[in-house]
Amino acid sequence: MERTLIILKPDTIQRKLIGRIIQRFEDKGFKIVGMKMIWIDKELATKHYEAHVNKPFFSSLVNFITSLPVVVMVLEGPEVVDQVRKMVGNTDCKKADVGTIRFDFGLSIQNNLIHASESKEDAQREINIFFKPGELFSYDDSRRLTE
Ligand code: PPS
Repeated sequence: MERTLIILKPDTIQRKLIGRIIQRFEDKGFKIVGMKMIWIDKELATKHYEAHVNKPFFSSLVNFITSLPVVVMVLEGPEVVDQVRKMVGNTDCKKADVGTIRFDFGLSIQNNLIHASESKEDAQREINIFFKPGELFSYDDSRRLTE
């Protein structure tokens, strides 16, 4: 089963949108197989955003992502990488389609609330950066709960 990495960025935490954004992925039917709050430091931010080190916005992006704690999570489901990218919307919230997370809640290209892996390869790399194997869970959520 496919997995992807999500980061609920500092603006999500500041604006108290954690629950509402997670709700969308649960409503869609994706399974949360890992989740934690962390405070990303400069080193980790540079590793995660290594493809952007030479971009003019890099230092601004690193300052932003390290400014408050974030929530990192791993979602599992069929074609979850592409499906989640669709739910998240265009990087620039002003260009995002109606009904996407970034259109509904986002303000700009930097304050765009959420990161989602771009490809299956990126997802694998990013999951390995943020999670140890013991922090990810395979479980059957179809079983009935008992008292
Ligand atoms: S690119 O150039 O297409 O590869 O970049 P993109 O995938 O659109 O964006 C990568 C991440 O960089 C952030 N970003 C910016 N931050 C600040 N200022 C500007 N101008 C800017 N442009 C892009 C963007 O929010 C992306 O963050 P993630 O966490 O990957 O969504």
